[in-house]
Amino acid sequence: MNELESTARSLVRKGKGLLAADESTNTIKKRFDAAGVDCTEETRREYRELLFTAPEVENYISGVIMYDETIRQKSSDGEPLAALLAARGIMPGIKVDRGASGLPGFPGEKITEGLDGLADRFREYKDFGAKFAKWRAIISIGAAIPTRLCIDSNAEALARYAAVTQEAGLVPIVEPEVLMDGSHGIERCEEATLAALKGVFSALLEHRVALEGALLKPNMVLSGKSCHEQAGVDEVAERTVRVLRRTVPAALPGIVFLSGGQSAELATAHLNAMNAMGGHPWELSFSFSRALQEPVLKAWKGEASNAPLARKVFAHRAKCNGAARFGKYSRSMETPAA
Ligand code: 13P
Repeated sequence: MNELESTARSLVRKGKGLLAADESTNTIKKRFDAAGVDCTEETRREYRELLFTAPEVENYISGVIMYDETIRQKSSDGEPLAALLAARGIMPGIKVDRGASGLPGFPGEKITEGLDGLADRFREYKDFGAKFAKWRAIISIGAAIPTRLCIDSNAEALARYAAVTQEAGLVPIVEPEVLMDGSHGIERCEEATLAALKGVFSALLEHRVALEGALLKPNMVLSGKSCHEQAGVDEVAERTVRVLRRTVPAALPGIVFLSGGQSAELATAHLNAMNAMGGHPWELSFSFSRALQEPVLKAWKGEASNAPLARKVFAHRAKCNGAARFGKYSRSMETPAA
């Protein structure tokens, strides 16, 4: 347990957060398509190597969540990518859920799968150097959803995953994501997030998960993506912190937000505003995929000659989010040159 707690605390130590680079092959293909990049095993390897070798990111990135394919891959010099990260002081982690599929009888809702054989899979991932894991549940907002059953079923699966993960000696990152898709107002997102987190922590305690050795990866409380009235940065920060204070025990070392489809700069501004409020019982950090990577993909475009620029773009986003960990980010950090 001491080791789990020190790993969890180290992942959210001051000024640092996580890079989520655990997109499944289908998801990374969508991201590559949008940037006009061919999606092959080799281009995925090249891209992940580019991220993992960006200059100075070890100052802001404490861990990287990898996908099954990536944790088995090697750099162009033949070094395992997980070892390359570890050598920079960045902890490798692994996504272990096997994606979400339709929840039978509950139209529009999903249940995440991947519990079968999980303990066995951890034996291999530990050999590859993984120190922590991630499982994502998806909660959608719609006319009569989320339902209680969807929230509870996903919370139960998250708690079972977290218990297996701790038993294997890794830190579980528990990710119940309330999606931002929809035209609903921010109140509905606050309500759904509160219900989801209440369900998750109740299940974690039932399953005897030690919160001191776990991390939460929630959504921020946002207006629906197509809502005509978008809440401002301060309102997002206040509502998000309010929900977390009502549901997340102080025993948990840290909360690492997902970005969920927000622009890179807005996700950073929201994180910054929450940290500027101060006085939280847990560290408030990041575990962004899109908000760290979208500008990088745009710069790279699959061209080797763009790789140095793409690495700089990643280092810049990492630095901005590192500043947001102290509430010290400002728009002036986003100069055209940067
Ligand atoms: P986004 O930051 O793009 O939401 O991704 C985070 C993540 O890990 C989703 O599972």
